[in-house]
Amino acid sequence: MEKLFYCSKLDMTIGKICCIGAGYVGGPTCAIIAHNCPSIQVTVVDLSEERIAQWNSDRLPIFEPGLDDIVKGCRGKNLFFSTDVKKEIVEADLIFICVNTPTKNYGVGKGRAADLKYIESAARMIATVSTKSKIVVEKSTVPVKAAESIANILKANVKPGVKYQILSNPEFLAEGTAVKDLLQPDRVLIGGDQTPEGHEAIQALCWVYGHWVSKDRIITMNTWSSELSKLAANAFLAQRISSINAMSAICESTGADVTEVAHAVGMDTRIGNKFLKASVGFGGSCFQKDVLNLVYLCECLNLPEVAEYWQQVININDYQRRRFANKIIESLFNTVTNKNIAIFGFAFKKDTGDTRESAAIYICKYLMDEGAKLHIYDPKVEEKQLITELTHPAISDDPSRVKELVTIHKDPYEAANNTHALVVCTEWDEFINYDYEKIYGSMLKPAFLFDGRIILDHQKLMGLGFNVITIGKRLQRPNVHRPYAQAPAQ
Ligand code: UDX
Ligand code: UDX
Repeated sequence: MEKLFYCSKLDMTIGKICCIGAGYVGGPTCAIIAHNCPSIQVTVVDLSEERIAQWNSDRLPIFEPGLDDIVKGCRGKNLFFSTDVKKEIVEADLIFICVNTPTKNYGVGKGRAADLKYIESAARMIATVSTKSKIVVEKSTVPVKAAESIANILKANVKPGVKYQILSNPEFLAEGTAVKDLLQPDRVLIGGDQTPEGHEAIQALCWVYGHWVSKDRIITMNTWSSELSKLAANAFLAQRISSINAMSAICESTGADVTEVAHAVGMDTRIGNKFLKASVGFGGSCFQKDVLNLVYLCECLNLPEVAEYWQQVININDYQRRRFANKIIESLFNTVTNKNIAIFGFAFKKDTGDTRESAAIYICKYLMDEGAKLHIYDPKVEEKQLITELTHPAISDDPSRVKELVTIHKDPYEAANNTHALVVCTEWDEFINYDYEKIYGSMLKPAFLFDGRIILDHQKLMGLGFNVITIGKRLQRPNVHRPYAQAPAQ
């Protein structure tokens, strides 16, 4: 049996881990810890009985390649899912806080600041029930200095003999590749107090990750650097996408091809080729939220120029989604009212059923605003989830209209049948190999195809008869000789 890590300053060994929040981050992270640390007991707790029941069933609440096998391999042995939040907190030596931190939709900082109410309630719960010392790890992405708030809540309610250490350990996994990202992370980041107690707590968490991550990939620093690094990493990634999407608009006006530009730019090893794929816009639960959070932080720190700089990353993303929708409307002779439009893909990226902030939501909104009839197909997104997104008050003020305009299909060929246009919003691999001849045959003519992810074989599709429109490239019909690019529209 492995010797567990002993923290002399807190007088405890790390034998039990509890994670508050069984979401996209908490669930996979704890499954990987349990898988790699058989001597540690890991329990994931959540307020939602439905979520916990799903984690305990054969159908996990999230789709993530490779996750089923890992969960099934250790569930019931050293991995548990429970709604008994108090009991698990009491027993735990180390607690991960993995609750969601959405953008605030009310009050001060509305639309930009992160809502920390769930983090605060987790901290208060820990303070109320704990009877022994603990290491509390904030994994949820938070504004800089959130660890200080957690520490203040814990310290103000501390019981005699109980000590706390707060660490920041942001998660960098991306959805769809969570298992791989967790098993082979680029780096694990751990921030803590620069005191002997803080260093020992950092070492305890390093020991947990050290079961499967090599030492040189585990970096430690002060808490504020760690918190800011997470926001910075997401802001840099989002900024690359907005940069290439801004280039895509120039490409469409000049005759340059954004894929070629990205290739040429990315071959510079100083720049690198990742995250340079132009698209209909980035989505997901993190990029927009974290950049807005950064903008808000800059405003609070009285750094308006810096705030404006990062805000532009969001503005370009909004612009890209709007631009793509406008292009659909313009191409369909400036009206889509009552036209049937197939939407291929609703998830914010491939290999996930997650729809949070998906560009598809906005494309559908803009088309619904114009009265288009949408026929949506996504390989993984549940119908209930899709309707929840489209009937959200920010997207539609009349749920009955969504019902009237939207049909959800289980088969892509059915979705495309009898439509005027087909719009690719997510880069699912299966879209590439569909029988587009059959699809073309079943559509109204002229048949339009809008590739918002630049994944299809455009020349082939045009050869079949489609009018193809994509991002960052003006397509020319095959066999039509046009030696010079057109002058930009005035
Ligand atoms: C992650 C990160 O943790 C977060 O920082 C980031 O901002 C968004 O992505 P994620 O795991 O994707 O969060 O969130 P979600 O899937 O919504 O899961 C959070 C879970 O916490 C939910 O299951 C929710 O029921 C649970 N929760 C929330 C609690 O158990 N207690 C609470 O008080 C609040
Ligand atoms: C992101 C970060 O990558 C991850 O490190 C962090 O922990 C959480 O936020 P995630 O949102 O799951 O992960 O997915 P990601 O692969 O980063 O994609 C985000 C969005 O950007 C998707 O909508 C994706 O389609 C889009 N994207 C990505 C592009 O449009 N172009 C690209 O080149 C890359």
